[in-house]
Amino acid sequence: PRTAALIPAAGSGTRLGRGPKAFVEVGGLSLLARSVACLSPYVDEVLVALPAGMALPDGVQAQPISGGDTRQASVLALLRATNADVVLIHDAARPFLPARVIREVAAAAWEVGAATAALPVADTLVQAKEGNDWGTLTPRESLWAVQTPQGFRRAALLAAHEAAQREGHAATDDAGLIARLGQRVALIPGDARLFKVTTPGDLALAEAVAAVWDK
Ligand code: CTP
Ligand code: MG
Repeated sequence: PRTAALIPAAGSGTRLGRGPKAFVEVGGLSLLARSVACLSPYVDEVLVALPAGMALPDGVQAQPISGGDTRQASVLALLRATNADVVLIHDAARPFLPARVIREVAAAAWEVGAATAALPVADTLVQAKEGNDWGTLTPRESLWAVQTPQGFRRAALLAAHEAAQREGHAATDDAGLIARLGQRVALIPGDARLFKVTTPGDLALAEAVAAVWDK
């Protein structure tokens, strides 16, 4: 199948506080450049949603498009700009993508229709009660933390996005839009290095990972 990588990179990076986050550098390379470099060998085209009025960083080989006000709007704009059979959606803010995860998500996307990288939860989980006191223990067996990349047959994801838009349904990821329609989403074991750079502390962690990743 013809495959496109779609990278939402149009966020403002409010929690990180360093300007538009995709352009922030770790180990001398922007988060966006790193994400594009990881995905490029495995896809036929790369499309990036950018903040309004911004251009791609130098040296990034991709088709730029204008993002929207929300991640969901940015992904919908990306979906409308490709006719690939399979799309791999990946946050620019997750700059370290192991090849194994890309390959497995892409294969399952085509076979099952939808797939996402995800990690079994390792911590003990508790539902707090009032006052931030320990309430009810939540068994973590069978709980997974969802990451990207997420892969889909493009037509199925476009239909799910258009349904969500019609119904005013807001979601933080794309696999959730497929699951709410009762369609299957395969969980593919992700990787700790796929954490999302969200806060200043994450940036320090990313610098440390970059030093090993680039060796
Ligand atoms: N994103 C996007 N368009 C938006 C909002 C977010 O393409 N309108 C992208 C971000 O660029 C990022 C990914 O979605 O690659 C995940 O979003 P998040 O981590 O929340 O990034 P920001 O929205 O930039 O950060 P913040 O929420 O702290 O402002
Ligand atoms: Mg955000």
